[in-house]
Amino acid sequence: MEEQTSLILAFETSCDETSVAVIKNGNEILSNVVATQIKSHQRFGGVVPEVASRHHIEQITICLKKALQVAQVTYADLTGVAITYGPGLVGSLLVGITAAKAVAWAHNLPLIPVNHLAGHIYATNFVTPIQFPALALVVSGGHTELVWMPKEGEFRIIGETRDDAAGETYDKIGRVLGINYPAGPTVDQWAQSGQNTFDFPLAMVKEDNFDFSFSGLKSAFINTVHHAEQVGETLNKQDLATSFQAAVVDVLVTKSLAALQQYPAKEFILAGGVAANHGLRTALQTAVEKQGVPFVMAPLKLCGDNAAMIGAAGAMLQRHGARADMLLNADPGLEFDWEANAAR
Ligand code: KG4
Ligand code: ZN
Repeated sequence: MEEQTSLILAFETSCDETSVAVIKNGNEILSNVVATQIKSHQRFGGVVPEVASRHHIEQITICLKKALQVAQVTYADLTGVAITYGPGLVGSLLVGITAAKAVAWAHNLPLIPVNHLAGHIYATNFVTPIQFPALALVVSGGHTELVWMPKEGEFRIIGETRDDAAGETYDKIGRVLGINYPAGPTVDQWAQSGQNTFDFPLAMVKEDNFDFSFSGLKSAFINTVHHAEQVGETLNKQDLATSFQAAVVDVLVTKSLAALQQYPAKEFILAGGVAANHGLRTALQTAVEKQGVPFVMAPLKLCGDNAAMIGAAGAMLQRHGARADMLLNADPGLEFDWEANAAR
């Protein structure tokens, strides 16, 4: 018997991107509309929550209409509505949740709650179905997590940042170098033409756990730049970027390989906005493949926040019976429901 077609309308508004997508069978993008607010936040040097919420309100119905139009589907064709309910900015999350609820209610469709990090991981589903058990490194503006997935639908965070996220660290040190928010892509570009001449600290690399810490590296970087300014010395920005990136990549690769030792995975997934980083991608792929483990990541345009990835995770979760009612609320600090999943 042919499997029934799943056609999911997905919403993502957890940070500064308003996005609505229509996803067929969890792995085919019929539309993926992304309205970015970066320009509005640039003058503040980072995302301002209240400004983000207002933009989401302005954009959400425009994105919704466009997503349906591009996909050439109507509400009657849909089989579910997937929504990011955390982690993220509470006001931003609430805009997407309210829109998703309204559509689900008005058209009598199941509402599927999706964890934003599961979405980042499931962006790889557009390349190849995930092979379990799998290990994922999710690196973004708000997160740095190693996630163990023993089987489909089960997520367990085995390591995470104790302070700043990797992307956040890029954005903060980039600001000191005079780069606009988000600084990650430019620091990455500069890092490719400099020399590793500064000896920045490799945080927690020797510790016997899979957690990360980037605040020491960030402070060392900022102190180096400020000290040079005070004594009237000019530092080479490319060399600073190369040295910083080498320290970040070293820690991420070392911890990922250590995790692979303890959690033998059939594949290793690199996900999140920082996965676009050239240095990280190449170093991690080489190191992981050297261990005989396939390395997978989403196409670059699906590494940042988007609703297509929420639709992919939503399709999987719907197959496993995940469903929310109209009481669904935003959960800014949402964690993976490992215990509940493990008990199932
Ligand atoms: O996943 P994402 O779009 O949003 C969050 O969920 O946070 O990630 C955005 C983050 C920003 O901090 C940005 O500076 C960083 O990803 N980023 C990069 C690169 N491209 C984006 N960081 C380092 N190198 C890059 N090439
Ligand atoms: Zn994200």
